[in-house]
Amino acid sequence: MDSRIDHLQRRACARPGVLGLGGGLPAPELFPRAQLSRAFLRAIERADGLQYGWPEGNRGLRAWVAERLRDRGAFVAEDEVIVTSGAQQGIAIATAVLRARTIEVDPECYPAALDLFRARGLRMVPAKGPLGDAVTAAYVMPGVSNPRGQGLPEERRRALIARGGALIVDEAYAELRFDGKLERPLLADARDRTFHVGTVSKSLCPGLRVGWLVPPRRDLDAAIAAKRELDLQAPSLGQAILEEYLAGDDFDARLARARRFYRRRAERFVRALRRAFPSFRMEDPEGGFCVWVETDVAGDDATLLSIATDCGVSFDPGRMFRHDERSSPIAMRLCYSATAIPELELAVQRLERAFRALARRGRAAR
Ligand SMILES: Cc1ncc(COP(=O)(O)O)c(C=O)c1O
Repeated sequence: MDSRIDHLQRRACARPGVLGLGGGLPAPELFPRAQLSRAFLRAIERADGLQYGWPEGNRGLRAWVAERLRDRGAFVAEDEVIVTSGAQQGIAIATAVLRARTIEVDPECYPAALDLFRARGLRMVPAKGPLGDAVTAAYVMPGVSNPRGQGLPEERRRALIARGGALIVDEAYAELRFDGKLERPLLADARDRTFHVGTVSKSLCPGLRVGWLVPPRRDLDAAIAAKRELDLQAPSLGQAILEEYLAGDDFDARLARARRFYRRRAERFVRALRRAFPSFRMEDPEGGFCVWVETDVAGDDATLLSIATDCGVSFDPGRMFRHDERSSPIAMRLCYSATAIPELELAVQRLERAFRALARRGRAAR
């Protein structure tokens, strides 16, 4: 990540009173603290909760992931699932064993995946261009994309299945589609070339650091070896807590409540944004935590972030999501997930102030 942006974001987080619209954080009030603390107590009593485990992860969790994928139409055996330290590590392992050197990414895409592809020397091409050939891999976020909060269009889905090439399919937010529809996973139609990635970070809590990867069968051994090289295994305690939690709570009912909760915040936030900034472009999020906002304002989004922090609000600058790290025209990812509705409305007023200050600064410089 751009070190200037990193510095500005840390400064904003450290500043009391700044309303943070960045980061993609789940709402802390949705963390099931009572259930997790009971699960924790049961986990530390278990033989495996505090002990080393296998690189591929706990059997119970692998079975849970495989069963949920089978329910959606993908035949996955529990032995084909690797428990990872979050979805991010699933993407990293997929990238390590991938044979392609070029990868298609959304024109606006999850920054930590872009950073990873960049660091591994993959050439990135935006998915809006001509469809790549079979040697081009693709990174996609079906269900709910980050930052746009949109599903994968049916036409693109069909094209990805038809054309061949490895797919890294990141379902980090898929269970948080507001309509609750979980599509047939791409894995079901492209089993031999899909690296399927999931996580409980967004749906439950990121602190457990538990995600998963289902690689193509021929890459399973290489993926487990890559996992072992990285960190030996996903955290034993996180896995044991999650298994105990799943045994004692209705996870699907919790997901349904979370979807309603985030939908309410999204609707109120987008309404306030549209009222304040009628010329800015944004789509209603179909799920997830954020809205992607595009403007015609030319300029430096880091300068805007710095001004906004002084006005008491922060956000994720658009350049983080663009594979060419372009700042202008200014765009922003604004997260509504972790901020209560009255504060979201206040944050919009502060953003208005920040844009006015940016315009004044531009006029003074001319
Ligand atoms: C699209 C996407 N994938 C993966 C991740 C990482 O998830 P995890 O915390 O499970 O590593 C994130 C987190 O922001 C994300 O937005």
